[in-house]
Amino acid sequence: MAEAKLIDGKAFAGGLRQRVGAGVADLVSKGGPKPGLATVLVGADPASQVYVRSKGKLAVELGMASFDHQLPEDTSEADLLALISRLNADPAVNGILVQLPLPRHIDTAKILIAIDPAKDVDGFHPVNVGRLGSIAPGAPLDFPVPCTPLGVSMLLQDALGALSGLNAVVVGRSNLVGRPVAQLLLRADCTVTITHSRTRDLPAVCRAADILVVAIGRTEFVKGDWVKPGAAVIDVGINRIPTPEGKSRLVGDVAFAEAQKVAGHITPVPGGVGPMTVACLMYNTLQATRNAAGLPFVAV
Ligand code: GUN
Repeated sequence: MAEAKLIDGKAFAGGLRQRVGAGVADLVSKGGPKPGLATVLVGADPASQVYVRSKGKLAVELGMASFDHQLPEDTSEADLLALISRLNADPAVNGILVQLPLPRHIDTAKILIAIDPAKDVDGFHPVNVGRLGSIAPGAPLDFPVPCTPLGVSMLLQDALGALSGLNAVVVGRSNLVGRPVAQLLLRADCTVTITHSRTRDLPAVCRAADILVVAIGRTEFVKGDWVKPGAAVIDVGINRIPTPEGKSRLVGDVAFAEAQKVAGHITPVPGGVGPMTVACLMYNTLQATRNAAGLPFVAV
């Protein structure tokens, strides 16, 4: 069988970033507000620092304002809540992103619920989680939707067109990825199965999937013979592993070389889902700004 078609998330994300940038320019040229994104990082985790910096940098590249807040690891929950309250009240801030994970002494749920749902560009506030969880099939996504899941659904719709009636299997039930991906695929009329560590005969469940989305954070966990011939495989994993030369490289949650021989479409790691997350964050920030200005959501 021919090798799977690569789903080029890097290229798609580049196009999306450009369209968001054009949307920002259009909004501002018509006298609308300049979108503002506030990022909040508590602690000094190096990977989180890289992510947060890249978000702020891209926001500025697309014509937005970026407000970066770096707080020490021992910041109290009360101080973090006070910052969120100030950002909620600041009209120059349209989007608020609190980088996760937070230090253990801070109750993440308490922080997420404190963010104004209209500024919740991560889509993690219970109001937005509830909106996605109760959305009608095909209804517009006119509220913030978690960025990585939104990116996954955009890539699938671009690669396959209509998803109606397809069997989708999601490996992983996290609030960040697995659950919201499942909701988006249900909205697109897929028949959705969510699997997890207690699922019986996971390989057999995966082999029934026309769409297989893998987000469990385990290096090359899904093998080639778990993939149905011709299936679309979306690998959300980003795992850093050492190379024999003493360096490191990124690999996904899917054994790519094996799966590529069987699948119809597959995302590479890196260059698949990864670049979509930050592009969708910019998309959500533009939409939140339009919403605050009383303008309708625009498809970009
Ligand atoms: N940490 C890992 N992914 C994400 C994300 O999408 N948003 C936030 N806020 N933190 C994260």
